[in-house]
Amino acid sequence: MGLGAMGKTVLLHLLVSMFLGFWSLSLVKADDPYLYYTWTVTYGTASPLGVPQQVILINGQFPGPKLDVVTNNNIVLNLFNKLDQPFLLTWNGIKQRKNSWQDGLMGTNCPIPPNSNFTYKFQPKDQIGGYTYFPSTLMHKAAGGFGALNVYARPRIPVPYPLPAGDFTLLIGDWYKTSHKALQQYLDSGRTLPFPDGVLINGQTQSSFSGDQGKTYMFRISNVGLSNSLNFKIQGHTLKLVEVEGSNTIQNTYDSLDVHVGQSVSVLVMLDQPPKDYYIVASTRFTKQVLTATSVLHYTNSKTSVSGPVPVDATYRLHWSMQQARTFRWNLTSNAARPNPQGSYHYGKITTTRTIVLSNSAPVINGKQRYAVNRVSYINADTPLKLADYFNIPGVFSLDSIQGVPSGGPAYIATSVMPASLHDFIEVVFQNNENTMQSWHLDGYDFWVVGYGSGQWTQASRKGYNLVDALTRHTAQVYPNSWTTILVSLDNQGMWNLRSAIWERQYLGQQFYLRVYNPIQNLANEYGIPTNALLCGKAVGRHP
Ligand SMILES: *[C@@H]1O[C@H](CO)[C@@H](O)[C@H](O)[C@H]1NC(C)=O
Ligand SMILES: *[C@@H]1O[C@H](CO)[C@@H](O)[C@H](O)[C@H]1NC(C)=O
Repeated sequence: MGLGAMGKTVLLHLLVSMFLGFWSLSLVKADDPYLYYTWTVTYGTASPLGVPQQVILINGQFPGPKLDVVTNNNIVLNLFNKLDQPFLLTWNGIKQRKNSWQDGLMGTNCPIPPNSNFTYKFQPKDQIGGYTYFPSTLMHKAAGGFGALNVYARPRIPVPYPLPAGDFTLLIGDWYKTSHKALQQYLDSGRTLPFPDGVLINGQTQSSFSGDQGKTYMFRISNVGLSNSLNFKIQGHTLKLVEVEGSNTIQNTYDSLDVHVGQSVSVLVMLDQPPKDYYIVASTRFTKQVLTATSVLHYTNSKTSVSGPVPVDATYRLHWSMQQARTFRWNLTSNAARPNPQGSYHYGKITTTRTIVLSNSAPVINGKQRYAVNRVSYINADTPLKLADYFNIPGVFSLDSIQGVPSGGPAYIATSVMPASLHDFIEVVFQNNENTMQSWHLDGYDFWVVGYGSGQWTQASRKGYNLVDALTRHTAQVYPNSWTTILVSLDNQGMWNLRSAIWERQYLGQQFYLRVYNPIQNLANEYGIPTNALLCGKAVGRHP
């Protein structure tokens, strides 16, 4: 399904922003089209691994509907919650410029109560690329509610590759037969999640994608799973990497690609093989037992079904994976959402104003398994931090609740918020002293991933940074007993979640909020509270 399908699934209005009460602070350009959606979230039954189980549907679909939009479109999405629990969706990788009000997390929004609704209004401002959305509440993500969110370049912005003959979206992820409530119960009772039961591709184990021999197709691949890095390959074909979370890349060719939890990549695949059917494979990485999902690449002139062994990569290829990550580079001469080269911003020449070192850990607190960052295991407050901040409600969070460097001592539970100044340019080192894979996601931004290394990061590690053509993305992996460094330009005011994309870890505390702040309140820096904001906790009765 390509851009052509867009018109079928959405109602597209071209309205002057004057007409619309929503964008009361009309910083939005009048000519950006409005896309209206009404989504209803319900429970349903599906059998993705052959046995019926409860799943979360959006408008009856599992996975949820694909959102195909264009850079700067105004999305107005009214979400009705028909579950028996409060619910929110978050738009993974949509930067929500000046607008953390729409981020859809427990720190930014009141959850939508059962039988209630909330209308999200947001714009993928100056963004292109393949993204996803998913539930941010409880363990709902384990039951579905996720989907693809593809942001296409505006027609007058050329993409740095020939237009593919078709565009396929593949949501890959590990999967449990156990319900989200039972999985939550595991975690609430102090246990960790068991090993998953399988891997799904678009919510199934037997999908198929058809294309014509000799033509080239785009595959947009996102890891929407809970815990496991996945290796992706197509039997007999190579993958030409063209885009990673909004960055147009140097177009290297790979036999397989590692996609870590929360990440997205787009590749071009030329159907240049003899006409038959080929396996598309997603298999778990770095696990003793390897779980594999296959689907089929079908040549339209094929008369032969898939055959031969399913090609699965060896599992423990940590060094290989780190080496591969280093080959992901920005194409400096291509443009992205705007008609200027990506390399026109010389990130490597900017002096960093601050270094933050974040060390993850897996402490037991009060007899229960938790996860922590710099010794703090995050817990949601009764009031979204963004609302507490806006209404000046005391006692919800404090700005000295987490340190910017690791320190010794026992881990503890707190609602951790780290202060940062608007327009700072920061270096963040993710130091992973655990023997497991990590995946870190920052909302509100994309960041340059400048280095991956083994062991302890030191100041000398900076010598190995890529300060020329590192790509920007929203989720970075950290290998076991290793570090990853990112550079972030803090140009987006708001309350932004920095979390483990590994869902069990974020649920049990491996996250905090970065409050990017400027003491001078100015609507040019940040939008005001939406008039339809839901109020809860200590914000009940306040007036937006
Ligand atoms: C809930 O939906 C109604 C339309 O059915 C809409 O008028 C209202 O603004 C929505 N509520 C919120 C909080 O967005
Ligand atoms: C980078 O982008 C340019 C401009 O769109 C394109 O012509 C070129 O082939 C790309 N280079 C690589 C190495 O991918």
